[in-house]
Amino acid sequence: MGKSWVMTPSLLFFILFLQTLKHVHASDKCYGDFFTTSYGVNRDNLLSSLPSNVVNNGGFYNASFGSVSRNTRVHVVALCNRGYDVQACKTCLEHVIDDTKAKCPHQKETFSWVTEEANDVLCNLRYTNHSTFGKLELLPFTINPNPNDIVSSKNLTLLRQEWNAIVDRTLEAASTADTSSVLKYYSATRTEFTETKDVYAMMQCTPDLSPSDCNRCLRECVNEFQKQSWGKQGGGVGRPSCYFRWDLFEFYKAFGNVTRVLAPPSQASPTAMDCGRDEKDFEGRHIAIIVVPAIINLIIFVGLICSWKRKTSHTGIKESYNPYDGQPMLRFDFVMLQTATHDFSPEMKLGEGGFGSVYKGVLPNGEEIAVKRLTRGSGQGDMEFRNEVLLLTRLQHRNLVKLLGFCNEGEEEILVYEFVPNSSLDHFIFDEAKRCLLTWDVRYRIIEGVARGLLYLHEDSQLRIIHRDLKASNILLDAEMNPKVADFGMARLFNMDQTRGETSRVVGTYGYMAPEYATYGQYSVKSDVYSFGVMLLETISGKGNKNLKEEEEEEQEGLLDFVWKKWSEGKYAEIIDPLAAPSNNISVDQVMKLVHIGLLCVQEDVSKRPTINSILIWLESHAATTMPAPTPVTFLTAP
Ligand SMILES: *[C@@H]1O[C@H](CO)[C@@H](O)[C@H](O)[C@H]1NC(C)=O
Ligand SMILES: *[C@@H]1O[C@H](CO)[C@@H](O)[C@H](O)[C@H]1NC(C)=O
Ligand SMILES: *[C@@H]1O[C@H](CO)[C@@H](O)[C@H](O)[C@H]1NC(C)=O
Ligand SMILES: *[C@@H]1O[C@H](CO)[C@@H](O)[C@H](O)[C@H]1NC(C)=O
Repeated sequence: MGKSWVMTPSLLFFILFLQTLKHVHASDKCYGDFFTTSYGVNRDNLLSSLPSNVVNNGGFYNASFGSVSRNTRVHVVALCNRGYDVQACKTCLEHVIDDTKAKCPHQKETFSWVTEEANDVLCNLRYTNHSTFGKLELLPFTINPNPNDIVSSKNLTLLRQEWNAIVDRTLEAASTADTSSVLKYYSATRTEFTETKDVYAMMQCTPDLSPSDCNRCLRECVNEFQKQSWGKQGGGVGRPSCYFRWDLFEFYKAFGNVTRVLAPPSQASPTAMDCGRDEKDFEGRHIAIIVVPAIINLIIFVGLICSWKRKTSHTGIKESYNPYDGQPMLRFDFVMLQTATHDFSPEMKLGEGGFGSVYKGVLPNGEEIAVKRLTRGSGQGDMEFRNEVLLLTRLQHRNLVKLLGFCNEGEEEILVYEFVPNSSLDHFIFDEAKRCLLTWDVRYRIIEGVARGLLYLHEDSQLRIIHRDLKASNILLDAEMNPKVADFGMARLFNMDQTRGETSRVVGTYGYMAPEYATYGQYSVKSDVYSFGVMLLETISGKGNKNLKEEEEEEQEGLLDFVWKKWSEGKYAEIIDPLAAPSNNISVDQVMKLVHIGLLCVQEDVSKRPTINSILIWLESHAATTMPAPTPVTFLTAP
């Protein structure tokens, strides 16, 4: 029982302050009037089965018991951190229950976020005399800073700017609902700082909240830490609805799947902190431009999604369960997909990809889907294929095409995706009539969105996926021209080695492939960055990397040589697409920043290419940013 305590942020803190800890936090935990005997009986009744109920329900559980009229109704909520170990979570909850009963023998309400150091797990227990389900509760709160100050020979102002930027990023990710897990509001990040050791941050909200309430709750935790404890080496802030902790070491085994990222360059940080607001303005203005068709499309789209949700159970789609987190997922009948695509008729064909053809399909309920029929079998067994698809369905991000489900019957292996209405980016940038529809706002947003999707694949998703075939035709545009990256995870599905970083089986498209990948089969997140750079330069120049024929005198040269030449000669205006409609929001400087980023991405030397993370920070920064100067780029000719 002595193993659990409230909100301990670090082992160090524990060792130094064990004596005072219980005393300090007892008052935070218990509040409200004293309860009656029957309230106590009902509470104990709920608590007795709570630990097993939590782990049996995916990590979060709420229940109520007792009579409202007699004031004996008790409401209990409990959870563990995402990625918890089942036994550790149960033990943690058992300890916090015993502890709470001992420390709050009389009071009606309590909450605690408990760190079990022995098992390296976080758990939360809350009971109240009123229902808290779906309600944001900010008070009371607890704060436990590490007693030691940050020791750094460097400028603490810079450190603070960097800290703010990464905490903002964690907050943004945590308050975006990830419905693939019961514990849908969660994020853990690990960032390399130049001034100190790596910074580890973790945030979690109770999953009954709305995304905006979760965001607000975490924001208030961060504010509280900044207000009271800035300068300390770490700490945790807990409120009934959410929890935030950061430290200079790993905790809760929460960082095993997390990629270490570089702290944003300090020049960019002050604006990165404000980027949320800037981005909203940006979107607001953008929407005004293409407002009417977009809204109509949106209404249709939302309508379809709603009808999809209502009717899926009648349409020959079987629900099976994801073995990893028990979430329902969809297995489609082959016959139903045949009907939906008019027996895979040529008129329904949307395109042909590396691994198969894509067809548009319409389900009996009117819902539109995209059906990818794999031509080469994945070479995996049924179970393996299924499990791999299940993992991919967990990747959810607004800049990724959503994988809805699959079908594997007999020889057939089929993937079912959401239908994205506006076809792919190449249809716009390589088509004179459509290119002028892409204003600089839209292009900037597309580039930024693709970067966000890639960042999620590279760093934020649990699978850490290298796309390996990023190109304009793999970027789909929705009704509002938001980009969605398609065809990710194919290397996983086809059993290509994802861990070694070297492959004899090169997938990808010449013109987009990084030299080390095309030549030696070496791939990494940086080979995706290269492809991203090519896509970026195509989007702003309106020229394809392969077909730059009649455009200029550079008959034999590729786009990269062309851009580099104009850039080094200072003829910037010749790089950018003359057909792009001007817009007030994007300055010439910002377009030049894009060209600059593009050139950095296609550097031949892998180490000179930036990470997607740095690219996003540069993109989001509206102030002048210092970026390394690009060195000459070489164009890889197709064999
Ligand atoms: C809960 O208890 C408080 C006193 O601690 C009381 O004011 C409040 O009315 C009670 N709420 C309900 C729903 O019983
Ligand atoms: C959790 O609370 C919600 C909302 O009050 C309720 O609908 C649901 O039944 C509760 N869960 C359990 C297991 O009681
Ligand atoms: C890390 O990945 C493993 C295997 O995919 C998974 O079981 C575990 O839950 C993940 N951890 C977290 C914290 O998400
Ligand atoms: C620390 O950095 C900030 C921001 O760049 C700067 O304004 C300040 O003067 C620096 N302070 C010291 C002591 O160098």
